[in-house]
Amino acid sequence: MAVRQILRMGDPRLQQVSEPVSQFATNSLQELVDDMLETMLANHGAGLAAPQIGVMQRVVIFGVEKNVRYPNIQPVPQTVLINPEIEVLSEETQAFWEGCLSIPDMRGLVERPAHIKYRGYDINGQLIEREATGFHAIVVQHECDHLDGILYPMQMTDMSQFGFAEELASRE
Ligand code: NI
Repeated sequence: MAVRQILRMGDPRLQQVSEPVSQFATNSLQELVDDMLETMLANHGAGLAAPQIGVMQRVVIFGVEKNVRYPNIQPVPQTVLINPEIEVLSEETQAFWEGCLSIPDMRGLVERPAHIKYRGYDINGQLIEREATGFHAIVVQHECDHLDGILYPMQMTDMSQFGFAEELASRE
C-alpha cells in the first residue's frame, strides 16, 4: 500500500473518460483500491476516484464517519464502487459547498439531484445497489463525475460561489 500523489485540476487526465473494469478480484484491482483508501485517508477526503491518482478506470471509493473537512455531515458507509451507474429519483435538488482533493483549499456551491439510486460492483464483482439522499447522494455524484472527466466547478452555475475555503468561512 502507498499514499499516491493526487493530480490537480489542470492535469488533462482529470478531464478524460475512464474505462470500465473488466476483471474483478484481481491483485492489481486490490492494490489500486488499497492505494486509493490510503491516499484518501492521508488527505482526510470523503471520497476519491481512480483518475485522481492517474488510473483511468471506473473505480471510486467514499465513506465518512467523522471528517475534519466536513464536520457537520451525516455518516456515509465506507464503500468501494466499481463501474457505477446513477439514476436520479426526484427532481428535487440540494446545494452543498463541495471540495475536492484535486482542487486543494477551494470550495464551491454546487446544486445536484437530492435523491438518487446508484448501483455498481464491489472488488469481487458483487452487485451493490442503494438509494441515497443528503451528503451521501452528493459524494457519490461528485466521485462518479470524476470518471467522466467532470470536476465540480464544471457543474457550477454561479462562479461567485467559488473561492478559498478560508475566505468563505470568514464570510459567515
Ligand atoms: Ni473530487
